[in-house]
Amino acid sequence: MAIAFESLYSDIAGRNGKLTAGKKTVRTPALLPVINPHLQLVTPKEMRAMGVEAIITNAYIFSQSKQYRERVLSEGLHKVLDFDGVIMTDSGSFQLSVYGQVSITNTETLSFQRDIGSDIWVPLDIPTHPSTDRATTEQELAITMQRLAEAKEVFGPDAPIAGPVQGGIFEDLRERAGREVTDLKFSFCPIGAVVPLMESYRYRDLVKVVLAAKRTLSPSACIHLFGAGHPSMFALATAMGCDLFDSAAYALYAKDGRYLTVHGSFRIGELTDLPCACSVCRSHTAEELNTAPDRERLLALHNLYVTLAEISRIRQAIVDGTLWELVDERCRGHPQLLSGYRELLAHAPALERHDRATKRRFFYRGDESCLRTEVVRYQEMLKRIQVGKTVLIAFEGGVRDEFEDTLFFKPPFGPYPKELKETFPIGPSELPEWDDAMVRQGLIGVRRLMDTHPESRFTISCSARWEPLVRQVLGDIEVMHDPV
Ligand code: GUN
Ligand code: ZN
Repeated sequence: MAIAFESLYSDIAGRNGKLTAGKKTVRTPALLPVINPHLQLVTPKEMRAMGVEAIITNAYIFSQSKQYRERVLSEGLHKVLDFDGVIMTDSGSFQLSVYGQVSITNTETLSFQRDIGSDIWVPLDIPTHPSTDRATTEQELAITMQRLAEAKEVFGPDAPIAGPVQGGIFEDLRERAGREVTDLKFSFCPIGAVVPLMESYRYRDLVKVVLAAKRTLSPSACIHLFGAGHPSMFALATAMGCDLFDSAAYALYAKDGRYLTVHGSFRIGELTDLPCACSVCRSHTAEELNTAPDRERLLALHNLYVTLAEISRIRQAIVDGTLWELVDERCRGHPQLLSGYRELLAHAPALERHDRATKRRFFYRGDESCLRTEVVRYQEMLKRIQVGKTVLIAFEGGVRDEFEDTLFFKPPFGPYPKELKETFPIGPSELPEWDDAMVRQGLIGVRRLMDTHPESRFTISCSARWEPLVRQVLGDIEVMHDPV
């Protein structure tokens, strides 16, 4: 009955994994489309045929519905929705965050979710809005934690119950929440109350609170980012270690006449062409799509296809070890995503501990690439390189016999011995013409080598082009110019 998670491949803190709920499994990262029983633009059965392995729906809506309540209790959720994959149910917490109150208790909603045969149940957590002051956030977090403890007590340690992490905008409260959820032995942990951050494009704050929660959550827990539905941010969220997303966006955007792409969304009336390979876009012109009688459904289908394709692309990037490059590409689609990306890079030393040892390649994509986990790890490793008393670091050219050792130089990593020439990241890194940012970062690697090898005497050989930068980063190190 319990929920289990296994990570198969990883890249940065992202992972390709397998979530098991009961006897069913879901490949992650995964998108759980949100199903509203009263408004099904695309049916769960159609979604199944599109490759969807799990959906999420709102138990509160079923429990309050004249049309559905008795049916779902007698026939079960899977039959009523006609979906044989994993069905996760949310409690009334979303309504709580919108309307301020719900007419159901924590144990009532969990019992209801159990009785309708849901595969993953969510307690009645309190999604604290990011504008909430610290004292109130702390009080609400305490209530959430009581309810999570109650859930474990009443339904037992193996019940398939999610342990949402709250704590508003306060990083230390998110850390506390992550720690307590872990202590209560939840293995499936949604990060909650982030919808208002995403709606207002506060990706920097999103990165801060998600990473704060991740710091104290168990690395073996499956992490769901509650309410994340825009495909432009899935890569960023995956890189932080989020495994599941749930999207109402595909339907909400469709109702609003909006067309999702991985770079952002467009009003369908403003498009003259449809930049997408899905069957809807290949069989309609932009104008036909805009004026179709079933426009909402067609848009919902397209939005879902785009969203699912991005999940597939992310999974492949994790296998290849190219997630940083995908994150870089996606986060240039909006300035606030770029802010989120930069915040993520600021945490590279912490992310490095999760990142894997070798990857298919490292493509340099501009200044931001200098801060990637692979650079952090390489420069951290430099302290273990063994060198003699006199060391030449050759930007260009070969070994010089007047030095005990010659190291070569590959920005943004730094100095390397020839034995590492073909290994990751030195070998499979592709650079454009050297630029100041990458050379400066490589020189930081040289400085690290010098700091950790105080007995050795270092000389750099480089062209006059780089000497000012060398002086800036390394002060009065000895510089030789390459023979021309
Ligand atoms: N849906 C979006 N955010 C949340 C949240 O914080 N808690 C719950 N239960 N559902 C959500
Ligand atoms: Zn399309």
